[in-house]
Amino acid sequence: MAGWPPARQGAHCAPMDCPLSSAPAQQEIPAGAIRRPWPQGGFTSAPYWVYSDPAVYAREQQAIFRGKSWHYLGLEAEVPDAGCYKNTYIGEANVLLTRAEDGSLHAMLNRCAHRGNMICREAFGQAEKLHCVYHSWNYNLKGDLTFVAFRNGLRGEGGLPKDFELADHGLQKLRVASIAGVVFATFRADTPPLEEWLGDVADGIRRVCRKPLKVLGYDTQRIHANWKAYHENPRDSYHANILHTFYGTFGLSRQSQESGMVLDASGRHVYFYTKAGTEKASADYKETASALRSHNEGLMLEDPSILKWRDEFGDGISVQILSTYPSFVLHQIANSLATRQLLPKGPGRCDLVWTYFGFADDDAETERMRLVQMNLAGSAGMVSVEDAAVCEMIRRAVGDGAEGESYIRMGGSTLESGGNSKLSERAIRNFWHAYREDMEI
Ligand code: FES
Ligand SMILES: [Fe+2]
Repeated sequence: MAGWPPARQGAHCAPMDCPLSSAPAQQEIPAGAIRRPWPQGGFTSAPYWVYSDPAVYAREQQAIFRGKSWHYLGLEAEVPDAGCYKNTYIGEANVLLTRAEDGSLHAMLNRCAHRGNMICREAFGQAEKLHCVYHSWNYNLKGDLTFVAFRNGLRGEGGLPKDFELADHGLQKLRVASIAGVVFATFRADTPPLEEWLGDVADGIRRVCRKPLKVLGYDTQRIHANWKAYHENPRDSYHANILHTFYGTFGLSRQSQESGMVLDASGRHVYFYTKAGTEKASADYKETASALRSHNEGLMLEDPSILKWRDEFGDGISVQILSTYPSFVLHQIANSLATRQLLPKGPGRCDLVWTYFGFADDDAETERMRLVQMNLAGSAGMVSVEDAAVCEMIRRAVGDGAEGESYIRMGGSTLESGGNSKLSERAIRNFWHAYREDMEI
C-alpha cells in the first residue's frame, strides 16, 4: 500500500486520537453491585442514571466490552502486509491488530507480559517483531514471546527462574475474525462464530464491503456524552428524517420513501435502508412534514454537487446505516462509505473514530465523489453533525441522572412491535434488553 503507514492528519492527531490517551482503567464491579432499580417499563425506558453512574460504567468494561460480543478493530486494508499493525481499543482495553508473516490476522492486548508496559505507541506501523522498550521482551506478530534480555543472567548473577518458559508469557490474545474485510475480535472463547453472531445483519456488511477496500482517511470526534447515547442514535431511524435537515429537505432519506429495517434474531444488530426517489405521497406524511424544521423548501444549495450520487450497488438504496452491538457502525450515505468505532472514555465522554473508505479499484472520479460526500457524513458532516450535538444536549439535560427516564415506545412496547418499519424504536428496545441481560441489572 502506497504511503504506509497511513498518516492521521491535522486535527486527527489530536491527543484524543492518540493510543496513549484513555481514561484510567476502572476497577471491576461485580454483577449485583448495581442496586439501583430499573424502571417498571423494562426495555421501554432507560433510567437516566445509566448514562452517568461511574459504577455502571466500570461494570460495562467487564460485562460488555470483555463480554460475549465481537468488537470492531478495523479493516483488513489497514494492515495490508506482513508486519503491519493497528493500535486501537475495545472499550478501555488497548488492543493491537496485527498481520503475521503468513498473512494471518491476530489481536492481542497492547500490554507487555512482564510489567504491563505498552508495546506499540504509534497508531499504525510495520515491524518484524513487537518490542517492549522497558526491558526488551520481544514478541512475534502472533503475540508469542520470543526473546527476553538477560534471561540467563550475567556472570552467574540475575536471570529468570530455570523453569521460565517463553511459551507461558506471551501477550494476552483475543479471538479474531473478519467478514468482507471488516475485522472483529472478542475476549471470550464462548462468543459464537462471527457470522453466526451477526445473523441476518451480516448481509448488510457484505452488501457494502463487496470488493477490496481502500482507506481514504480518518477523523476522531470526541463527544461529551455517554457512549450509550451515541449507540442508540444509529439504531434510531425515527429521528433521521426529523433531526437532519439534509435528509428531509434534499430527499436523501425520508420516511415517505421505500425503506425498511433488518434486525438479527438476537435483536442486537440492525440495519436500516432507504431508497431515495421512491416517494409515496400520503396525506398524513405531508401533514407531518409540513411541521418539521428539517423540511424546508426555502433552503437551496449554491453548489448541489454534494448531493450528486450514483447508485453504485444497483439496488436503489441511498442510505444504509448498520449498527452492531455494542460499538460499531457501518454507513453508506449516498457514495460515502465509512466505519464508526465507538470508544468509551469515561461515563461522560466517548470518542467516535471514523474511517472513510472506497474500493481499491475506484477510478479518480469515483474517489473524488466519495471525498466530496465526506462533507455529508463525518464529524462535521452536513447530515451527521447533529447526532453528536443531540447526545451532548441529552447529557446536559439529564445531568447526574438522579431522577427521570426515557420513553421508548415508538412502534409499540415489545421487542417485536414496530416490525420492520423505520418509524419505530424497536431496535432501541432490543438494545436495552440485551444490555440489561449482559449487565445483569
Ligand atoms: S515491561 Fe515490558 S519488558 Fe519489562
Ligand atoms: Fe442521525
